[in-house]
Amino acid sequence: MWGGTSWMGLGPGLQRPGADRRDDRETGQHHGEYVVARVDVEVELAAQRQPADGHRADQAEQQSPGHAAAIIARLAMIVMVVAVLLHMARVFYTGAYRKPREFNWLIGLALLAVTLGLSFTGYLLPWDQLAYWAITIGANIAQSPREVTDALNLTESFDPGGLQRQLLLGSDVVGAEALIRFYVLHVVVLPLLLVILLAVHFWRIRKDGGLVRPVDADARLGPPPPDTYPVFSEAPTRTYHLAAIVRGRTEAVGCGPENTVPSMPHLFYAELGILMVTIFVCLALAIVSDAPLKELANPNVPESPAKAPWYFLGLQELVSFSAFMGGIGIPSIVLIGLGLIPFLDREESGTGLWFGGPGGRGLVFKSVLVGLMAALVVEAVAIRFGWLREWFPDIPQLVITFVNPGTILAVVYGLYSIWLVRRYRSARAGAVGLFTCFLCGFVFLTIIGTWFRGPNWMFYWSPSEWPKH
Ligand code: HEM
Repeated sequence: MWGGTSWMGLGPGLQRPGADRRDDRETGQHHGEYVVARVDVEVELAAQRQPADGHRADQAEQQSPGHAAAIIARLAMIVMVVAVLLHMARVFYTGAYRKPREFNWLIGLALLAVTLGLSFTGYLLPWDQLAYWAITIGANIAQSPREVTDALNLTESFDPGGLQRQLLLGSDVVGAEALIRFYVLHVVVLPLLLVILLAVHFWRIRKDGGLVRPVDADARLGPPPPDTYPVFSEAPTRTYHLAAIVRGRTEAVGCGPENTVPSMPHLFYAELGILMVTIFVCLALAIVSDAPLKELANPNVPESPAKAPWYFLGLQELVSFSAFMGGIGIPSIVLIGLGLIPFLDREESGTGLWFGGPGGRGLVFKSVLVGLMAALVVEAVAIRFGWLREWFPDIPQLVITFVNPGTILAVVYGLYSIWLVRRYRSARAGAVGLFTCFLCGFVFLTIIGTWFRGPNWMFYWSPSEWPKH
């Protein structure tokens, strides 16, 4: 037990003067909160609670610097997830993943995973009902391979789902072990990983010859001005210091001095400006929004609906059809598909142009329609008429695992993409179709999960229709 003794061997000296001692005498779950209350900025979240009034923050605390930090942390995480998704879409639609940038695309995917991981682990730290039940959902998703091993009677001897849950939580249930695990991941492991991956990402941008440009960029820009800075050497001798990871002695683009400007001051000031605008937007939003705490996490009082963090609500919608396919199967297929894109699309036309490649904007527009319509039809059928379990109560679970609205949607998108490859004789066209469809499906399902699902994950047009307890 940690409460009142030591945290990672650091002893009780870390306890805040105002931390809630009463928690010490409560359940092991509550000790989790106590651990959080011992450490720095995130910890201010826990410090907002008043022991005497059922752990609700009072008005004075709602205005405390800790509460402001909590709001900013929450907003910054939302902004970061949205920004990374938008950035990935920009890179994809300009064909910037193509040779020589395949490696950086893969680093980008790792950055995406770390970003989602940071947000997910941060979600538990307020240790309120919302956090507790959202992470419980996440843990159930991690355990979802049991849907298959149970159906095959294998769980006793082979239980990857149970192992994943254990790895995530350090226990069978969300409790003090999970909290410390998430805390260390959130403030130490993932930020470190992020910094390392970002260093490689930025170095690699330079190594790849800067950002992607259309092949005729130089012709469009005209002759270089006389004071052009000689960025690229004609006879490179220098290696780039991380060249141990990627072979070659110089930039991968192989062009000489050209229409380029030095990154200092041009790029530097632009990036500094964006940094300041981002901070300003987060601070401005923090003034008008709130990050209210719910009741203290209580394993005995389930939240209904218990919803995962917003960017997982599309997945949660799929999980409601099949835990395994929604939580593991389809996300793995998407991730592997994203990783393979640069190696399947070896074309060159349209690189560096928005929606470049065969089909152009028209193809993207058609794919948006297909992506949204398919998601709408599949969801409407499932919500209005139910699914196989309602029609054939005795149907084996394994059939539903592989034939459900989520897998059908994925198959429709896949078939559409294959059709595009044949129609345009182009892997890029297929990739654009598939990426766009999955993006639309993700947005559509996220909207359904966020606004149209209520208690027991039933469909409601509005929260005002939810049954009153
Ligand atoms: C924490 C997340 C990330 C950060 C902070 C980040 C940052 C950046 C920045 C600043 C650039 C140069 C400017 C720009 O293109 O906007 C860049 C380029 C690039 N990023 Fe990311 N990135 C992240 C995630 C990703 C993801 C998720 C992917 C794709 C899966 C990705 C793939 C790329 C590629 C291929 C380039 C080179 C683009 C080009 O040459 O035009 N990045 N990244």
